[in-house]
Amino acid sequence: MTETVPDGERDREPERPADGDPSATKPPGPDGLPVLGNVHSLADDALAFYERQSAEYGGLARYNVFGTEAYVVSDPAAIKRILVDDHDRYVKGEMPREQLGRLLGQGLFLAEGERWREQRTAVRSAFFRERIEAYGDSMVEHARATADSWRDGDVIDVHAVATDYAFSVLAESLLGDDIDAEREPVRAAAESITERFDTSRLGSFLPEWVPTPTRRRYHRRLDTLRATIRDLVAERRAAEPPSNPRKADDLLGTLVAAAEMGAIDDEELVDNAVTFLFAGHETSALGLTYTLYCLAGRPEMQERVREEVTAFDDDPTAAQIRDCPTLTAAVDEALRRYPPVHSFFREPTEPVELGGYRIPAGVVLTLSPWTVHRDEQWWDDPESYRPERWLIEVDGEVVHGDDSSGPAIGERPEYAYFPFGGGPRHCIGMRFARQELRLATATLLRRFVFERETEDLSLQASANTRPAEPVRLRLRERAPE
Ligand code: HEM
Repeated sequence: MTETVPDGERDREPERPADGDPSATKPPGPDGLPVLGNVHSLADDALAFYERQSAEYGGLARYNVFGTEAYVVSDPAAIKRILVDDHDRYVKGEMPREQLGRLLGQGLFLAEGERWREQRTAVRSAFFRERIEAYGDSMVEHARATADSWRDGDVIDVHAVATDYAFSVLAESLLGDDIDAEREPVRAAAESITERFDTSRLGSFLPEWVPTPTRRRYHRRLDTLRATIRDLVAERRAAEPPSNPRKADDLLGTLVAAAEMGAIDDEELVDNAVTFLFAGHETSALGLTYTLYCLAGRPEMQERVREEVTAFDDDPTAAQIRDCPTLTAAVDEALRRYPPVHSFFREPTEPVELGGYRIPAGVVLTLSPWTVHRDEQWWDDPESYRPERWLIEVDGEVVHGDDSSGPAIGERPEYAYFPFGGGPRHCIGMRFARQELRLATATLLRRFVFERETEDLSLQASANTRPAEPVRLRLRERAPE
């Protein structure tokens, strides 16, 4: 990733007001080109751009996109204030809504205020520990089926495999048995969604109303997906679904029950089904891709995880992997090194003071796990994959530092690690995803050894942190014990 500062992005001094009041000072940053602002640098390599901003201008750095003022926030204390302490002074804002509004409607990801609170309460039972554990069998079965399709010596594109895997798991958790009949429209829509938000294309930065062939296909497939979900909802209703969201067996069942209770309306029901598909599919696939890629680059660590998971007689269950500290550390460290969500956004609804600066209402704040997870202030040798950093010894036994939301070992500030966001709007699928990544990794490692064919990853910042090229791993089948 380039370290040079492109033309039009030279240093700018902080803009100080005449009265010299520091709390009224704007954070420093590059102004970029007239009209486009920093959009070229963002489209070119958003990850490098955010990183450069934070390295050159500090924990709060200004930039602009098509004339809209924005800041990259990489100071963990400021991130905690935004997400936790002062969360009710911020909204997700216009930018995600402009990009994702047509897709996610008024679903949980984009809803604000009271509507968001009501929806989060209505669907939260689908993400309770017992329910997530019940999805464990499907997570293991799909991993087993993946391993069954492999042969000793095969070279796989692990990103493609992980995408199929995560899609199968999520689609089944969302739709239960109904998925068999409806796999194709759901898969096609998921693929189009990924393509639509590929920010390596300049077109993805254009306003939503500008038609491009990619967008036309995306809109068509999205309409089909929504129609499919409506049909499934009608069938479920005809079959007298449980009236309490806690009694449902899958995510769609929870949503139908929430609608029966009047907690969400029918449009919000469809919006949320699409939301879960969008929010939980590519992210988990990327988490699995990077976990296996990273472990393939550390054979002795891969073996250490394997020893932990081959201690079980059979593929592990959701309950068993809770006691696998090295496996857990291997996944958490991959999510640090390559956070699937490289950045997300907030806007203050009123002027706020942050890190000594005055931030006007309505500016875009870019919170970037990618940047913070690579900051040497918090991470020793941040570019290297070291699950060891999460493991501590207690009474002679190795344990994972913190098994709730990811570790906060030592002196590191809490928000130096936030792959799942934070505060009341943290990822509702976090427990689902962490369990899925651990079960898939455990099941696959019991059968195969992974070796790198692709040594260096090249990444692109689409909506998520995606590999720009196939990620090839060679498989060695393990002899049965
Ligand atoms: C490794 C996998 C995953 C990662 C890294 C991830 C990351 C995130 C992040 C960073 C946010 C916060 C966004 C913000 O505050 O603006 C978020 C929110 C969300 N995630 Fe995930 N996610 C993952 C998996 C999942 C799964 C499996 C599901 C669903 C089954 C899911 C559903 C959601 C939803 C619905 C929200 C919005 C929550 C709200 O606003 O109340 N995610 N995710």
